[in-house]
Amino acid sequence: MKFTHITLACALALSGTLAGAQTTGKLKVGLMLPATGTFASLGTAIENGFRLHIAEQGGKLAGREIEFFKVDDESDPSKAVDNATKLVSRDKVDVLVGTVHSGVAMAMAKVAKDTGTMLIVPNAGADAVTGAMCAPHIFRSSFSNWQPGYAMGEVMAKRGHKNVVTITWKYAAGDESVRGFKEAFEKSGGKVVKELALPFPNVEFQALLTEIAAAKPDAVYTFFAGGGAVKFVKDYAGAGLKIKIPLYGAGFLTDGTLEAQGADADGLFTTLHYADSLNTPRDQAFRLAYAKAYKLQPDVYAVQGYDAAQMLSVGLAAVKGDISKKTEFAAALRKAKIDSPRGPFTISASHNPVQDIYLRQVGAKENKSTGIASKALADPGRGCRM
Ligand code: BEZ
Repeated sequence: MKFTHITLACALALSGTLAGAQTTGKLKVGLMLPATGTFASLGTAIENGFRLHIAEQGGKLAGREIEFFKVDDESDPSKAVDNATKLVSRDKVDVLVGTVHSGVAMAMAKVAKDTGTMLIVPNAGADAVTGAMCAPHIFRSSFSNWQPGYAMGEVMAKRGHKNVVTITWKYAAGDESVRGFKEAFEKSGGKVVKELALPFPNVEFQALLTEIAAAKPDAVYTFFAGGGAVKFVKDYAGAGLKIKIPLYGAGFLTDGTLEAQGADADGLFTTLHYADSLNTPRDQAFRLAYAKAYKLQPDVYAVQGYDAAQMLSVGLAAVKGDISKKTEFAAALRKAKIDSPRGPFTISASHNPVQDIYLRQVGAKENKSTGIASKALADPGRGCRM
C-alpha cells in the first residue's frame, strides 16, 4: 500500500508521534510513594499536593491530560527496583515521581538512569540523588538531607551549645542529616560527643534515651519523620528529658505530626524549607486551595508534591509536551524560578532546590517561622558530574 499524505496525517493524529516525538495524548505519570507504614501519611500529602497543581491547570500540562499509575513502595528498599521497573516497563510511564524514603529513591534513580526515564523526587533527601547519581533527567523538588542538618548545625552553635548527642534511624537519611549537622556544628566550634542510631523503622527508643540521660549533653540533634517522629517526641518528653536537655531536629520531626504529638512538641526548634506561618499571598492561596480540596492543613510534604508538579509543568511547557526532549526540559528548569508556597526557589546545576531554610518553633500546634536560618542554601552536590 502507498503511504499517502492522508494516511500519514491519520497516523500522526492517532499517535501524536513524529520522529519519536510524543506531544499529544495522555502523559503517563508513575507515582511511587508509600501508602503503608511509618511514612504513609507523607505519601498521601505528596500525592494530594501533586494532584492539586494538576487540577489548577485544568487537569492538563502543556495540553496533555495526565494519567496516573500508582505503586505502594512500602518504604522498602528491597522491593524498590522491581516496583520502579514495573512502572517503566509494564506501564510505560513517561515520568517517575517518587518517593519519601532515601533508600527507595536511590533505587528509583538507578532505574531512571538505566532506562533514561525522567524522575522527579518529591521528598527523599538522599544526597546521592543530586550528587554522585545525578543525571540530566533526574530532579528533586524537596531538599537534600544535608540542607536542614547543615542549617541546624549553625543555629545550635550560635545558640551556645558545645557538646551534642545525635540520634536517628540508621539509614541514608539519618546518616546524612547528622553528617550535614556535624559539618556545620563542628566548623563553628561545637563537638558531637555521641552518635546514636537504631534501625529504620524501629521505634524502641528507651535504651537510647537512657544513654542520652547518662551522657548529659548540652543538647540533642535528631532526624525522625512520620510515625517514628511522633513516638520519639512523646518518648523524649515522657522520659523527663525535654525539660533537662533541649531537643532540636531537622523539621520533619514536627511536620505533619503536631496533632499527634500534642504538648510534648511545644517549644521545639527545627530547621526546614517550609513553615506554617509564612503569611505570604502565595502560601495563603496554596493553603486555602489545599484545605478546600482535602479538608486538611498542608505540610511540607504537600508543598513538595505541589512543586514536583510545578517543575513538571515548567519543563513540559518548554518542550511543548514532548518529554523526550530531555536536554531542553532540563535547560528550562535550570533557568526557572519555581513559585513555591515555601517562597521562590531555583534549581542547582545538580538539580536540587536552592532555597531558604527557616528556623521554626512549635507553638499552638504550628511550626512558626522565627526567621531564616540559612538564606538560599545550596547543597554542595558532591560527586555530581553532568
Ligand atoms: C528520607 O528518607 O529521605 C526522608 C524520609 C522522611 C522525611 C524526610 C526524609
